[in-house]
Amino acid sequence: MTKGLYIIGTDTGVGKTVVSAGLMHLMLTKKRKSAYFKPIASGAVVVNGVTEATDAMFVREISGFMEHKENITPFVYQNEVAPHLAASLEKMPIRVDVIKDRLRFLKERYKWIIAEGAGGLAVPLNDEGYMQYDLIRELGFACLLVARAGLGTINHSLLTVQVARRAGLKIKGIVISGYTGSIMEKDSVRTIQRLSGIPSVINLKVLTGVDTGKRQTGNLKEVFETSVNMDDVMTMMEEI
Ligand SMILES: Nc1ncnc2c1ncn2[C@@H]1O[C@H](COP(=O)(O)OP(=O)(O)OP(=O)(O)O)[C@@H](O)[C@H]1O
Ligand SMILES: [Mg+2]
Repeated sequence: MTKGLYIIGTDTGVGKTVVSAGLMHLMLTKKRKSAYFKPIASGAVVVNGVTEATDAMFVREISGFMEHKENITPFVYQNEVAPHLAASLEKMPIRVDVIKDRLRFLKERYKWIIAEGAGGLAVPLNDEGYMQYDLIRELGFACLLVARAGLGTINHSLLTVQVARRAGLKIKGIVISGYTGSIMEKDSVRTIQRLSGIPSVINLKVLTGVDTGKRQTGNLKEVFETSVNMDDVMTMMEEI
């Protein structure tokens, strides 16, 4: 049996990779057989002639997770644009059957899977209206939502929760990324908990020296080791 969690965000750049990498680090430190899966990645870089998803490179850098890139990043695009446009520009349409096939491969080999979304939930994956939330539902994952700590997060978080519910997705918890503990942030957390009905919130403080695109790891590992309870996160994971 394999359990997993899909790391989704209120937007692009909110901290999904930071959270995925931190969780993978904790899982692998505890010797849990875990894989990272990023089915769709744009803005990839070419290293020694090989196109690589920067998010997967960062997760590898932090956690040491190694797996053939075809298995964990089946659809990688160099253009740093929305997936449907990248797929069209690079003439490589996103195929759900291929993604399911790679997930099946991972499920045969790993007990835990941390998957990462591309951007936010209401992201089209093609020009026919197939959306990222449709993919996550078809793959059968429960979600962990990453949101910003600052002003605007109540709106973005509640909108995402509404879209998720309408799409038939479960959000098991919310990570508030870049939390400083200000009066406004404390109120935002309480308000999001009350209005979303999701009690599980992880406050992730402002990290220093972290840049996922440049593979700068800063204090990410230490912060996750000292402030994130992996057992709590593991209880959010559901069979896929
Ligand atoms: N808790 C945090 N503290 C400080 N900086 C953060 C934090 N979370 C994210 N960042 C900053 O935001 C940048 C983008 O984060 P990240 O790459 O995790 O976003 P993402 O949601 O995965 O984006 P994408 O949609 O491109 O996959 C990081 O490189 C880091 O500089
Ligand atoms: Mg990312």
